[in-house]
Amino acid sequence: MATETLAAAVPVPGDQEPVVIFDDVSIGFDGKPVLKNISFRVAVGETRILLGPAGVGKSVLLKLANGLFRPDSGRITVFGQEVSSMPEGDLFGLRSRIGMVFQESALFDSLTVRDNVAFRLMEDKVPESEINDRVAEALRFVELEHTMQMFPAQLSGGMRRRVAIARAIVAKPDLLLYDSPTGGLDPITSTTIVELVVKERDLYHTSSLLVTHRLQDAYTLATHTFNKAENHMERSPGDKTNLYTSFLMLREGELVFDGSTHELVTSDDPFIKEYLT
Ligand SMILES: Nc1ncnc2c1ncn2[C@@H]1O[C@H](COP(=O)(O)OP(=O)(O)O)[C@@H](O)[C@H]1O
Ligand SMILES: [Mg+2]
Repeated sequence: MATETLAAAVPVPGDQEPVVIFDDVSIGFDGKPVLKNISFRVAVGETRILLGPAGVGKSVLLKLANGLFRPDSGRITVFGQEVSSMPEGDLFGLRSRIGMVFQESALFDSLTVRDNVAFRLMEDKVPESEINDRVAEALRFVELEHTMQMFPAQLSGGMRRRVAIARAIVAKPDLLLYDSPTGGLDPITSTTIVELVVKERDLYHTSSLLVTHRLQDAYTLATHTFNKAENHMERSPGDKTNLYTSFLMLREGELVFDGSTHELVTSDDPFIKEYLT
């Protein structure tokens, strides 16, 4: 019964056109190749975790997905529109449907938490009367409603990251891009951030592409579920891995893995085996 409820609530990957398609994408800087012939998809409702060592091109890949970089070759399609050749002006419409959590939170220091979270809504000309409710809802999601009138400098690193998540989800995006959301945080605080990613995934099923260098984050995302009634994350019943979460791995600019959690942990590839231990 539980599985049927889930199936009704979440679109089955493969059912609809993918939210993101990378087709043979390459990019380099100053003549140095960074990403080489990358092809993968993010289906509706899917969470894809991108693993890979520092400097391999994970952040570049996310910036390609929201049109901040253009590929040297290949095609990138987001929401059925070709981003790789889209005129600059059309990218604003695209980005208004994407929520991005940057590596360093990237909050505006001179704005209150409320105004940081409200920023996108104001840009999108959401009526003032709606903004307060939406901001409160997003801050409630990250359990920081009480910080509304505080400034980023008054918050801990973990709290700033939670505000960055509130800002990314406030406009109810169709795609979330998380760039190392636990980067620079201690292990316990990292878990609270991963819990929010799990909560977002399991309550709203927003298609997501998440970059991490922390294997623990990937493992938690694959094996945990958000218990809505008790408002916390817990190990998935029967130790099942999450059906909507799968992996991509970059190595020296190439995509060396694209598959399920089970396929990842049982891979015979020496690089993957070493990475996982
Ligand atoms: N704007 C840029 N100009 C030149 N080189 C860049 C730029 N952005 C990224 N790079 C290079 O691309 C490579 C991958 O960077 P990045 O995607 O940030 O790695 P990571 O996997 O750690 O996120 C690095 O060698 C970096 O120096
Ligand atoms: Mg990076």
